[in-house]
Amino acid sequence: MSKPLTGKVALVTGGSRGLGAATVRLLAEQGADVAFTYVSSEKQAQAVVDEVHSKGAKAVAFKSDQADMSGAPALIDDVVAHFGGLDILVNNAAISAAGTVDDPDTDTAALDRMHATNYLGVIAVIRAASRVLRAGGRIITVSSGLGSRVGVPGAADYSATKSGIERYTMGVARDLGPRNITANVVEAGLMEGGMEAPDPETLKALVSSLSLQRMGHPEEIAAAIAFLASPAASYVTGAVLDAHGGYNA
Ligand SMILES: NC(=O)c1ccc[n+]([C@@H]2O[C@H](COP(=O)([O-])OP(=O)(O)OC[C@H]3O[C@@H](n4cnc5c(N)ncnc54)[C@H](OP(=O)(O)O)[C@@H]3O)[C@@H](O)[C@H]2O)c1
Repeated sequence: MSKPLTGKVALVTGGSRGLGAATVRLLAEQGADVAFTYVSSEKQAQAVVDEVHSKGAKAVAFKSDQADMSGAPALIDDVVAHFGGLDILVNNAAISAAGTVDDPDTDTAALDRMHATNYLGVIAVIRAASRVLRAGGRIITVSSGLGSRVGVPGAADYSATKSGIERYTMGVARDLGPRNITANVVEAGLMEGGMEAPDPETLKALVSSLSLQRMGHPEEIAAAIAFLASPAASYVTGAVLDAHGGYNA
């Protein structure tokens, strides 16, 4: 494989599992030194680091709770101290929680934590990273098909976090464009082995609404992220790249 990211430093939030881990592996294969965060899966994070090292590339894991906005500046300082700079930020870490707005049994504390993690926490990391991102830098925010179309009941809060962070990323593209830093969104689709799937009935409805009629693999979404991180995407900014099997087609 060619290594278009040689000499670049990447930070992938939530790299211990799922799409984040696939992205860490791919960016490292393409030559980047990759830092990533996790919040609780220390063993899985170490396994990802070991796997990257076994292939002769560099990775480091930092425990950092994205739901706590105050931790973002220290995280970015740690990345810069470890690898000497920052070129690529992948805002991947997120959680999902569901519940219809009128259901008295909805766990609103879980919804509040989701808003903190998926929206405010991402903003805090972007703000801190924007201080140090080098010219030619990339910000890639992982959203969801539900960021542009809700499609199922019970997803108002999750969709709002994703829609909000998409718009924020567009603003970032405007703010950082003059420094030759791009900011784009990847709308991921339902993935095998990712965050907890919705109930079987909702899952069936979602899959049958897709053009491709199947769930995606994390590697398929990571490829879209790697494209936006690559030199080939130098004139792409403020864009939304759909990698969700045709949810909107
Ligand atoms: N899975 C899907 O079907 C799907 C569909 C559309 C969009 N997406 C989006 O794709 C992205 C990745 O999803 P996924 O399914 O790969 O997720 P996942 O398998 O549940 O993994 C989530 C990752 O985020 C980390 N994380 C969670 N809360 C965190 C926090 N407070 N601070 C720091 N890290 C935290 C986790 O760390 P720990 O391991 O330590 O918990 C883990 O590394 C998300 O943005 C999600 O919204 C997913």
